[in-house]
Amino acid sequence: MAEDTGPDTEVDGGIVAELERMTPAEREVHQAEVAEVVAPDREIAVDVGDTLLSLQDVTMRFGGLVALDSVSFDIRRGEILGLIGPNGAGKTTCFNAMTGVYRPTSGSVRLEGKPLGRQQRYQITRLGIARTFQNIRLFGEMTALENVVVGADARHRTSVVGALLRLPRHHREEREAVERAMALLEFVGIADRAADKARNLPYGYQRRLEIARALATEPKLLCLDEPAAGFNPAEKDNLMGLIRKIRDDGYTVLLIEHDMRLVMGVTDRIVVLEFGKKIAEGLPMEIRDNPAVVAAYLGVPDDGVA
Ligand SMILES: Nc1ncnc2c1ncn2[C@@H]1O[C@H](COP(=O)(O)OP(=O)(O)O)[C@@H](O)[C@H]1O
Ligand SMILES: [Mg+2]
Repeated sequence: MAEDTGPDTEVDGGIVAELERMTPAEREVHQAEVAEVVAPDREIAVDVGDTLLSLQDVTMRFGGLVALDSVSFDIRRGEILGLIGPNGAGKTTCFNAMTGVYRPTSGSVRLEGKPLGRQQRYQITRLGIARTFQNIRLFGEMTALENVVVGADARHRTSVVGALLRLPRHHREEREAVERAMALLEFVGIADRAADKARNLPYGYQRRLEIARALATEPKLLCLDEPAAGFNPAEKDNLMGLIRKIRDDGYTVLLIEHDMRLVMGVTDRIVVLEFGKKIAEGLPMEIRDNPAVVAAYLGVPDDGVA
């Protein structure tokens, strides 16, 4: 039985019904158009394969605890890089060190060759790194659409909040921001609940909404921290499809994921952390057969909670 989505969601009934009427070919054209609206300002990645982000000897200490111990790896433009490792290995800390939540104790993080050392979080967002959180962080009282508009706001100089105050020069930007946010919700597959408050959305929709909000900042690098946590296998497969679609659209993705099967299926390369150290790096096949990785994961079930 279909879930009762409440009267608010009628707003978007049009798009969903329209999509259902389309032939697969029409839908493909439509999706390309959506992608165009989603990120009109994004530069086309001409140099697929060059280094986008680079961690060099990054160490992160919390008191006596070494959460990251001289970790180095590169993220190449256009790839899906998996960052894996047992619970407590330092994966989330790695994200935090890259996105300005923490300043590394030593070492450097470079985006397109430029050190990120002294940037604040919002500046790093503007430079092109977006992330989702292991524990979902949304504005619960805002609608799904508003959550994404706010994400886009982080990117643009003129604030949409200003637009809402009805300053004339902001009208066009406001309309564009809403249009783009709607397209993003469609892109991640949750447009049918655009007008629902975030807190009323099913868990899987909230996870996708976080991704839409991160994409709204038009990032060069999208970092996903266990986006499939709490999903059943079918939902996980669905999400992997979305992550592939995001990459095929030209984004670079760094994926933290605990489920080995899932990571093997979607990533181009994998970096493995254990106790804050990088213990392996390579193609999924190489990682799967790496004895140190197998040992690190022994006794940890595939779907273990990280
Ligand atoms: N803010 C912090 N203060 C103290 N210890 C922390 C902090 N953040 C992370 N840690 C510790 O660093 C280690 C790595 O944590 P984390 O990066 O969250 O691991 P993972 O995401 O791989 O499960 C853990 O031992 C964790 O307790
Ligand atoms: Mg974590």
